[in-house]
Amino acid sequence: FPAENIRNFSIIAHVDHGKSTLADRLLELTGTISSNHLHQQVLDKLTVERERGITVKAQTCSMFYKYNNKNYLLNLIDTPGHVDFNYEVSRSLAACQGTILLVDSSQGIQAQTVANFFLAFNEGLTVIPVINKIDLPTAEPDRVINQIESTFELDVSDIALISAKSGIGVDKILPTVIEKIPPPSGDINKPLKAFLFDSWYDTYVGVVCIMAIVDGKLQKGDKIMSAYSEKKYEVVDIGIMHPEQVTTGYLHAGQVGYVICSMKVAAEAHIGDTFYHIKNPVEPLPGFEPAKSMVFAGVFPTDANEFNRLDESINKLTLNDASVSVQKETSTALGQGWRIGFLGTLHMDVFRQRLEEEHDANIIITRPTVPYKIIYRDGTSKLIRNPIEFPDSTEMQNKVSELQEPIIMATIILPEDYMGSIMDLCGSRRGEQLEYNYMDESRVMMKYCIPLAEIVTNFHDELKSKSSGYASFDYEDMGYQTSDIVKMNVLINKKPVDALAAILHQSQVAHVGREWAKKLSEVIPKQLYEVIIQTAVGGRVIARETISAMRKNVTAKCYGGDVTRKMKLLEKQKEGKKKMKMIGNIELPQKAFYDFLTKD
Ligand code: GTP
Repeated sequence: FPAENIRNFSIIAHVDHGKSTLADRLLELTGTISSNHLHQQVLDKLTVERERGITVKAQTCSMFYKYNNKNYLLNLIDTPGHVDFNYEVSRSLAACQGTILLVDSSQGIQAQTVANFFLAFNEGLTVIPVINKIDLPTAEPDRVINQIESTFELDVSDIALISAKSGIGVDKILPTVIEKIPPPSGDINKPLKAFLFDSWYDTYVGVVCIMAIVDGKLQKGDKIMSAYSEKKYEVVDIGIMHPEQVTTGYLHAGQVGYVICSMKVAAEAHIGDTFYHIKNPVEPLPGFEPAKSMVFAGVFPTDANEFNRLDESINKLTLNDASVSVQKETSTALGQGWRIGFLGTLHMDVFRQRLEEEHDANIIITRPTVPYKIIYRDGTSKLIRNPIEFPDSTEMQNKVSELQEPIIMATIILPEDYMGSIMDLCGSRRGEQLEYNYMDESRVMMKYCIPLAEIVTNFHDELKSKSSGYASFDYEDMGYQTSDIVKMNVLINKKPVDALAAILHQSQVAHVGREWAKKLSEVIPKQLYEVIIQTAVGGRVIARETISAMRKNVTAKCYGGDVTRKMKLLEKQKEGKKKMKMIGNIELPQKAFYDFLTKD
């Protein structure tokens, strides 16, 4: 296929606006998959994705299509559908020359529509707006067309109105793609420049990379090098996704396909990386960033005996997901575990779900922490990802010049009726309004600057419940800002419990401190002695709860009974103790921590 007969494009949309359904229709229309295939949505592969109806991992597929008597190779590059994966979306888009901006005609433009549009716009892509779900009785295509025109200033004169579900209008999409989107501009005679934008781990063949060949030609047996890691690889298999791997032996400029090249772990396949022939280095493509975890949490097995088995499971899952970072961690309260870094909270939920469902894990996850930055007086700085690393008072006084926290810019789109309650929510989360605009007479787009820490603790759920599900939300990274943050300890009988410490903004301490002390007092069972629960910042106690002592001794009911019964009871208690944790002079059941950390 000469480059002028190739089109590389993607579909971008807000969650549930029908991206996967449209992709399936296009694959059927081109005969890439049959229309009576049993499992719908070929492009969404993980079970978690199917259950939750969201695309976590992008999948790419090539199609052959005849138009005006010419044969075309159309590469549909799918993009992940969630804000946690915005970097991956931007890299997938970098492999395209154009994109279909799909908008649900009953929902209109939503936050991710806006975020994705700007990602595509910044990549210089041709954007083709398409209105979906026109079969719905609640469809308002005219209103949505107006929104598209006023928000994105796109030409809507011959906009396609479709139903990806029933197939209405879908036949117009590919001709428009061919006519409006430019072919890739690479040069087959230049040295190889290959752009990696997706990868996954396959148990049989190892890491499978999806690459776009920008210039030159890549074939089986070629020796290539990563511009980022400078590691060398040999291509052992290469071809197109149609929809599964079909070996071609080579890919040339303008094409997109899979490359298998003896990479051992997914972590070696850096999304956004450039590859070239070993002896012929080229300037890498711009925009590369190594994967960056933004949310960290401690993960501990509920049963310490499970540590080794779960360690293996976690290794398996990370083999598959290069964007998860893992370190071993030991907590006095929760024992041996791991500190795991994720791209965001959805990514964390997906990981947890896979660990629980595919690996039968029983785990405790601590409250998520964002990476805070400590700036020292000598000009150096350090990121901390665990409250344990927070500087103590001597270090604060002598060495630290300031503390910073990550902030984001949130885009929130909502019906104007909910503006008041959502502004209150953002205010209570330390948000600062930057601007708001009416998108039409009743829809508003607000921009807020909010600390990331406030987003990772239930923000999305609250946003949804306070807007009856109508507000949508997306965000982008805005770097770091100076912040008045402190470490809050939870003390049980005066002993700090490491796994429960938290880094908080000064303004949240009083409220969180009271709430946590109360919640803990509800999950810790009565002991033989009085138990005092306190939350404190440094030496300052924020809240205190007391659990009074148990009235009777456990063996009391055996008084007068025979000795063996008493022995048996003590024996049984010993068994139970294995699942207990010593905190200072008291023993707490692991379950109390579990209840505390999962009860919200
Ligand atoms: P993500 O994978 O999360 O990005 O979602 P998506 O945009 O891929 O949405 P998906 O294709 O999974 O569609 C979401 C829901 O909308 C599904 O229940 C589809 O059946 C439905 N849907 C998609 N297109 C249409 C349409 O044209 N009409 C109607 N009525 N429903 C549609």
